[in-house]
Amino acid sequence: MIRAYVVSQKDGAIGAGFEEMDDAALDAGDVVVRTAYASINFKDALAATGKAPIIRRFPCVGGIDASGTVESSTSPRFKAGDKVIVHSHGFGVSHHGGYATRLRAPAAWVNRVPDGMSTLEAITIGVAGYTAALAVELMELNGLKPANGKVLVNGASGGVASVAIDMLSQRGFQVVAATRKMNERDYLMGLGAAEVVDANGLNAGTRPLEKALWQGAVDSLGGEALAALTRTMQRDGVIASLGNALGVEFTTTVMPFILRGVRLVGVNSDNDEALRDHLWKRLGTDLRPRHLARIAQVKPFNELPAMIDAVASGRIKGRTVIEIDASAA
Ligand SMILES: NC(=O)c1ccc[n+]([C@@H]2O[C@H](COP(=O)([O-])OP(=O)(O)OC[C@H]3O[C@@H](n4cnc5c(N)ncnc54)[C@H](OP(=O)(O)O)[C@@H]3O)[C@@H](O)[C@H]2O)c1
Repeated sequence: MIRAYVVSQKDGAIGAGFEEMDDAALDAGDVVVRTAYASINFKDALAATGKAPIIRRFPCVGGIDASGTVESSTSPRFKAGDKVIVHSHGFGVSHHGGYATRLRAPAAWVNRVPDGMSTLEAITIGVAGYTAALAVELMELNGLKPANGKVLVNGASGGVASVAIDMLSQRGFQVVAATRKMNERDYLMGLGAAEVVDANGLNAGTRPLEKALWQGAVDSLGGEALAALTRTMQRDGVIASLGNALGVEFTTTVMPFILRGVRLVGVNSDNDEALRDHLWKRLGTDLRPRHLARIAQVKPFNELPAMIDAVASGRIKGRTVIEIDASAA
């Protein structure tokens, strides 16, 4: 039997809990994996608590990423015993996800864990670190260079941001971490931030163009935080917009775009196999984060519900990893 944490809907109300499932209940796919680890992303917390309409098919095993060992595969890309990471597309949203001792997924949603990396390190990167890697790649393609100035990373204590700080600092960028949790200053400096600033004290003014501060920005927040970034970017600055922890709407003017050449780059982690293979290769080599052990907070499977509440209310730092079955690591 499979032990799973299932999100269900009854009489319009969303709830989640542990259940036993058998193999016949798994969704279709090419690759069956014994799950070692999953993680709790912001989106997982919204999904399981019903705070946002994330889940598109009920009941659905939660968890938008997982790592473990292939048990069987009908895809020639994988064989039994391979160490893999599964994430994005419908995983944990419209297809049973990672909070289960066994999972089955389409091969296009699966990548081999890079050589020399453990399944624990791979899930610590997870969809969050993958998205950070895509943001770094897109920003560099748009002209980001260490010599050109500071890069702001907001929501800094969060999962995507923690990995982004680690990657950007090791690539020689001067990273400014903006957080509401100034008590996490040592953690953020330890990841490589050059400066930690209080997000509440970031005064971005209200004029269409304010003092130019940043050549780049990784934005997990959206809303007013993203609007403020547009006003304070340097000439040809690049903003990677990847999240909405603060809000989905923002108001700005065209002035930053037409007078400073500011580039607003969207980042979406639902990618084809070629891009996934490329980024996971980079995550194992030149973009490999150095501080994964510091970023991971590892908790047992039975603490998943409490940790989902902690993530939903912003009481976490780094990546919240759930150990599903260490014997599958
Ligand atoms: N585009 C994609 O494909 C993709 C992929 C993965 C994630 N995402 C999105 O990226 C964002 C970050 O994801 P994550 O997994 O890193 O989340 P996370 O670990 O929960 O981190 C989010 C961080 O944002 C800050 N924050 C949270 N709520 C806030 C609020 N109400 N006001 C101001 N700041 C707030 C907090 O940082 P501080 O306390 O340090 O300020 C928090 O640690 C989410 O919106 C997520 O949905 C998008």
